Amino acid sequence: MSGLLQVGIELNQIHDFHTLMERILSEARHLLGTDAGTMFMREGDYLRFAYFQNDTLARRSTTGETPRVSSFRLPLNDRSIAGWVALSGQSLRIDDCYAVDPTMPFRFDPSFDQLLGYRTRSMLAVALKNRAGRVLGVVELINPIGTEDVPRDGFGAHDTSLLEHFASIATVAIERAHLTESVILRMIRMAEVRDPSETGPHVERVAGYATVIFEEWARRRGLDGASFERQRDRLRIAAKLHDVGKIGVPDAILRKPGRLTPEEFEQVKRHSEIGAELFEDQPTDFDEAAREVALHHHERWDGQGYPGLLEGLSRRGRRGEEIPLFARIVGLADVFDALSSRRAYKPAWAEAHVLETIRAEANRAFDPELVDILFRRLPEIRSIRDAHRDHDAAESSDAGA
Ligand SMILES: [Fe+2]
Ligand SMILES: [Fe+2]
Repeated sequence: MSGLLQVGIELNQIHDFHTLMERILSEARHLLGTDAGTMFMREGDYLRFAYFQNDTLARRSTTGETPRVSSFRLPLNDRSIAGWVALSGQSLRIDDCYAVDPTMPFRFDPSFDQLLGYRTRSMLAVALKNRAGRVLGVVELINPIGTEDVPRDGFGAHDTSLLEHFASIATVAIERAHLTESVILRMIRMAEVRDPSETGPHVERVAGYATVIFEEWARRRGLDGASFERQRDRLRIAAKLHDVGKIGVPDAILRKPGRLTPEEFEQVKRHSEIGAELFEDQPTDFDEAAREVALHHHERWDGQGYPGLLEGLSRRGRRGEEIPLFARIVGLADVFDALSSRRAYKPAWAEAHVLETIRAEANRAFDPELVDILFRRLPEIRSIRDAHRDHDAAESSDAGA
């Protein structure tokens, strides 16, 4: 029980919603010792298949991580296991998903198993219910494995009450992170009013790319565990807020169709300092990360970026590792995304062209190690890009100059 309490405290220290959900799933799996797990989140009359972890599949994959599967939505009805649990609010324990009690309205959907070459046997599904009884989502734990000494292949009544207890602790953390997330999204939306290229999907992609790059950077240095996770959490949020300073740049400049005059460009550059000011005076390390990224994401590895450092009476760009790591990562992720996307002044570039340009800028605009990492983790970068497409992506091919 005190272990559960500790987990609750730790969950409440995570700011970023996505990081929190992955952590909740891994803690739940750890608690009950299962091979796999899935989390569905409620979106109105649907359930989104949002998080998925599977040790067996992770061991088979080259990266050692669960392969990313594209997210999808189920209608919220009692024909699926998750839907039944979400609607009834009751937990469900199934010994063999391929032999579900025929009197029940739901069936197990084996298409996922077939696609991935996996066999889902027993499952324990519990609703994530808040204090008011509202169901926010459903967690499904799959295939308990136990330990080498005590292998196990099914769930018991004790498991159900343990997972229900854990779910109620997790739900408190989820609601709190929801609040943080919605404040951040509103800040981003305010910036988007000024600069239409700074969209929700753009910041999601930049945060996603930045996370993948940081994970690999940390893996190479043998960093993992709680402090790594906390840093990644901060980076994700800071990445989303990299351009909030645009709220301080006049519309007439940000929306100007033609070329900017040098004076106008100076005003655009101000967004990095304006953004940093938003996070000043706050002593939390989350604000510190957001400040660093907002301030330095336009620095260049060769020292030709901005806003740079004051040296004597003049300013010079920061170079190399003078630029904080998070800002180097987000700067690369931001440019990669801007080139890959349609903007008012350019069409979306083909991936090969984007990669060639990025490669040529290693050691010039970008930290060469981070460029190398981006190339190595391309499959994940692509799947993030595809998961957060621009709303107008369908028409982007006809975008002209
Ligand atoms: Fe920027
Ligand atoms: Fe951006």
